[in-house]
Amino acid sequence: MNVIALDPRRVVAELDRNVFGGFAEHLGRCIYGGIYDEGSPLADEEGFRKDVLEALKGLRMPIIRYPGGNFVSGYRWMDGIGPKDERPPRAELAWHTVESNRFGTDEFVSFCRKLGAEPYLVVNCGDGDMREARDWVEYCNGTADTHLVRLRRRNGYEAPHAVTYWGIGNEVDGPWQMGMKTPQEYARAFTEFGKLMKMVDPSIKLVASWTSGWFEDWVERGQLLLEQAGNLVDYMAIHWYVGNREDDFARYMALSELFEERLSATEGLLKAMLACRKIKRPIYLAVDEWNVWYRARGAEGLEEVYNLEDALVVALQLNAFMRHARWVKMANLAQIVNVIAPILTRPDGLLLQSIYYPFALYSQQAGGEVLDVYWEGDTFSGGDYTGLRVLDVAATRRADGHIALFVVNRSTGEAEARISLQEGAFAGDVQCWVVNGPHIKAYNTFEAPHTVALTSRRLEGQGNRLDVTFEPHSVTGLVFRIA
Ligand code: AHR
Repeated sequence: MNVIALDPRRVVAELDRNVFGGFAEHLGRCIYGGIYDEGSPLADEEGFRKDVLEALKGLRMPIIRYPGGNFVSGYRWMDGIGPKDERPPRAELAWHTVESNRFGTDEFVSFCRKLGAEPYLVVNCGDGDMREARDWVEYCNGTADTHLVRLRRRNGYEAPHAVTYWGIGNEVDGPWQMGMKTPQEYARAFTEFGKLMKMVDPSIKLVASWTSGWFEDWVERGQLLLEQAGNLVDYMAIHWYVGNREDDFARYMALSELFEERLSATEGLLKAMLACRKIKRPIYLAVDEWNVWYRARGAEGLEEVYNLEDALVVALQLNAFMRHARWVKMANLAQIVNVIAPILTRPDGLLLQSIYYPFALYSQQAGGEVLDVYWEGDTFSGGDYTGLRVLDVAATRRADGHIALFVVNRSTGEAEARISLQEGAFAGDVQCWVVNGPHIKAYNTFEAPHTVALTSRRLEGQGNRLDVTFEPHSVTGLVFRIA
């Protein structure tokens, strides 16, 4: 028997809903044929796929990062504005294609506004310069009567786009990146780019590219950035992709522990630098690319097909973001459509992949304050780890008073648990949502689209107790009120 004890007084931190963000890159069919499909009968008058917009609304993403990714390190944003037929096609070196530029800044911001999401733009700190970066901020946010603001107005956007979140560079630690930078080079570049961008609009928030490869220099990178740009940086970005290359379920389920360790370590460095340099302004972590990605690593279009065990891993990462809510204030699922994505399109429709469901469940139900949940019970070993809890848990108390408790059963057997409230009693029914499928390798196809899906039922607590049998290899969300 597992025990999960909840005390609504034990608050970890406020949950920032930006941890349910997404990421869209000019790569494969993410933009063209994904969110934007000119001439498609499924697109609206502006070219946005209506079915994709509807599916994305189910994910309730509050923020979307764009335009890359590796793509951004060769991107010229000015190519992507103005009359579409006059926009220059360019050789695209990150993914070896030709970029038509028919979708650019204005289309992206419109797309975000349709979704109710904040745009998060990344500037080119690869082969681009700081003039391009500051001009982009001015084009988007400027209000004075300048050439760039007139240009935006001529393009049909009288009001500023009011873009708050700006990243400077992508994965600058990686040799695969155009314009890769040493820790010293990037700390300098970030400082000067950031200085100019904030001169144009002091209200913007800046995201620094900290580490993606987790190479030996990641501590040095973080330290230099915080030493030199502690007065400019708002978020320190890390990237995190995982997979099950060894086809070892236990090892795969244990991978989230490594992520926990890395989150704790990056938080530790942040805390140390804030204290050491007496930095009073808040600086947070942004996991601005994360997902499962291993099957389609080198494949064109990166169209990963996700199964049930991948959905469990996505839920495990979301649990980790919640447990680390004090520092993790943004996370962006990479990516949103077709490219390593929860949604796959065809010209005549779309498919929701397994990972769509845990993301939607968490994003729709979590909110408010994260609680420190006590657990004891069954353990397992996986990879280099032993004594890991089979039931991985996280919980929030929403502003409407509801508790949303999330439990990932990372075993292939049922798990009995008693949920006990340290204060109060269960009031009314408990809504129980479960993401599951017939076996861990099950996945959805256009022919069998609901093999892995979300089901719901109602449970009833007895006083301060609720006994639940968690299904094998499942993600469960329990939502209830405490009287
Ligand atoms: O999301 C796919 C790619 O993964 C991105 O372009 C890059 O930033 C990362 O390596």
